[in-house]
Amino acid sequence: AIYPVILCGGSGTRLWPASRSDHPKQFLKLVSDRSSFQETVLRVKDIPGVAEVVVVTGEAMVGFVSEQTAEIGAWATILVEPEARDSAPAVAAAAAYVEAQDPAGVVLMLAADHHIAQPEIFQQAALTATKAAEQGYIVTFGVQPTVPATGFGYIRPGAPLLDGSVREVAAFVEKPDQATAERYLLEGYLWNSGNFAFQAATLLGEFETFEPSVAAAAKACVAGLQLEAGIGRLDREAFAQAKKISLDYAIMERTQKAAVAPAAFAWSDLGAWDAIWEASTRDGDGNAQTGDVDLHGSSNVLVRSTGPYVGVIGVNDIVVVAEPDAVLVCHRKDSQAVKTLVDGLKAKG
Ligand code: GDD
Ligand code: MG
Repeated sequence: AIYPVILCGGSGTRLWPASRSDHPKQFLKLVSDRSSFQETVLRVKDIPGVAEVVVVTGEAMVGFVSEQTAEIGAWATILVEPEARDSAPAVAAAAAYVEAQDPAGVVLMLAADHHIAQPEIFQQAALTATKAAEQGYIVTFGVQPTVPATGFGYIRPGAPLLDGSVREVAAFVEKPDQATAERYLLEGYLWNSGNFAFQAATLLGEFETFEPSVAAAAKACVAGLQLEAGIGRLDREAFAQAKKISLDYAIMERTQKAAVAPAAFAWSDLGAWDAIWEASTRDGDGNAQTGDVDLHGSSNVLVRSTGPYVGVIGVNDIVVVAEPDAVLVCHRKDSQAVKTLVDGLKAKG
């Protein structure tokens, strides 16, 4: 059976002032009336063969996860991490949980903060990836890159595998520098979308080879796991023994078992406000607006308010985000620089 495992650990700094550490971006309704966490659950819960949706998150997020799954009439098991140790320990613990129930179980590991415009195409790709996972591969979804971004993993596709539905991963490089990313674009590399499919047992075997502390911690922290109303708290001492590392560095750069499934779905990791504008429904002038907002003589703007009334007149290509206690105004092309602003705010205290 298939076990979607949704990793819910990010903070989404570049989406300030809407995204805060106590209310991170995956739970915000940014491009529709559902959060990206809810969209993720809805995208996978009815795929044929899905047994149980599993969410791995921190204690502070359990309330959001429970409320937002209930709101869409869905159900998920929540595994609570005692501390954030990056994606490898989190997904390894989920894999150990899945393997204990279903030794042949396939994990469909999903990021909680992505927008995928055509869920049907994703579902097809997930079934293709699941078939390859059942043959022992660790399958990534390769997305056609558009710019030499340095925040992604890059995949060099190799020879066709199985019936040609997936390809070998000839190389996987996480977050290359700018010059390397530019070269990769010319050389036909793909972006790693950050979603994966693998048998729980396959992944745990690779952790034993490459990061034994993560494999051991995963098994130990689910050993005495008690679920109460679908919530299970991973053992603190056991979890703390795992190396703090992402799945990409721990396994994807090193494994010989990686395969890539083509991902023809329109994909965005909703990294910054320009990406929110791109993913949003826009009017004939290219404007996207949410909340108590009026726009006149403006084009290609994103305006969002959860608090004060916002009037916008005669401007183009900007972002306005108003929260009850803070307002951001920036040029759309400067969306990435919001991180600098937030770092400055943190320094001010
Ligand atoms: N539960 C839990 N605990 N989840 C975590 C933790 C953690 O400690 N750390 C990260 N995650 C979750 C995030 O919430 C997100 O859903 C996913 O794991 C990926 O983590 P990011 O921190 O967003 O990784 P990234 O964006 O730098 O890179 C990854 O995604 C890219 C695509 O968006 C990599 O897989 C790249 O290769 C990929 O291109
Ligand atoms: Mg990310």
